[in-house]
Amino acid sequence: MGKDVIVACDFSSAEAVFSFLDRFAELSRKPFVKIGMELYYAEGPDIVREIKRRGHKIFLDLKLHDIPNTVKKAMAVLSRLDVDICNLHAAGASAMMRAAIEGLTREDGTRPLLIAVTQLTSTDQETMERDLLIERPIDEVVMHYAATAANAGLDGVVCSPLEAQKVHEVCGKEFITVTPGIRFAEGERGDQKRVMTPADAKAIGSDYIVVGRPITAAEDPVGAYLRCVAEFCD
Ligand code: C5P
Repeated sequence: MGKDVIVACDFSSAEAVFSFLDRFAELSRKPFVKIGMELYYAEGPDIVREIKRRGHKIFLDLKLHDIPNTVKKAMAVLSRLDVDICNLHAAGASAMMRAAIEGLTREDGTRPLLIAVTQLTSTDQETMERDLLIERPIDEVVMHYAATAANAGLDGVVCSPLEAQKVHEVCGKEFITVTPGIRFAEGERGDQKRVMTPADAKAIGSDYIVVGRPITAAEDPVGAYLRCVAEFCD
């Protein structure tokens, strides 16, 4: 599994994301880009096509969750967009996850990687018990969702870097862990509560780190990106 740094391009317009990406034009390494709901809903599928045309790999973070048939058809559209990674909520259950894989798989048998969100990191034990009526310990729930995703044939999960090692123990080394919540040792945490440095995320076996503000809000975004690459990939 190729370790890589995925830059969360949480911008609200094509103009903003392109002026950000233009800064990286001189680099031989093209950053892997995460497009989230805000940018995708603002600009539509053309934003994916254009960033791909510029040579970036794309993680399209739309977190699908619906009945199996609807998810299957939506995934077929995303597959034609040629994204590299896309995702869904494991809470949609096994039949939805299997349908998603069917939809994603192209006629030649290839498909983008498909990863699952387990419990959102904004959900804590209290919220899970009160709002979702799930009474088991949250770590157990996260690992159960990860194992269900693995059994349905998914390629990995989005998880906290603090969970990556356990996910690999439960679901196998090949099951990929994509971990947000990354901060430099001396950096601002912002709203992220459970954070890890790129070097520590590498040490515990994350496959991809997702880094937003430590790069997008840096005075020198290219320098911050290269620092992530040096700590995590090299
Ligand atoms: O700016 P920051 O590095 O905190 O950005 C992290 C990115 O990862 C954001 O796009 C955020 O939505 C996403 N993410 C997250 N935690 C999750 C899932 C996704 O921070 N559990």
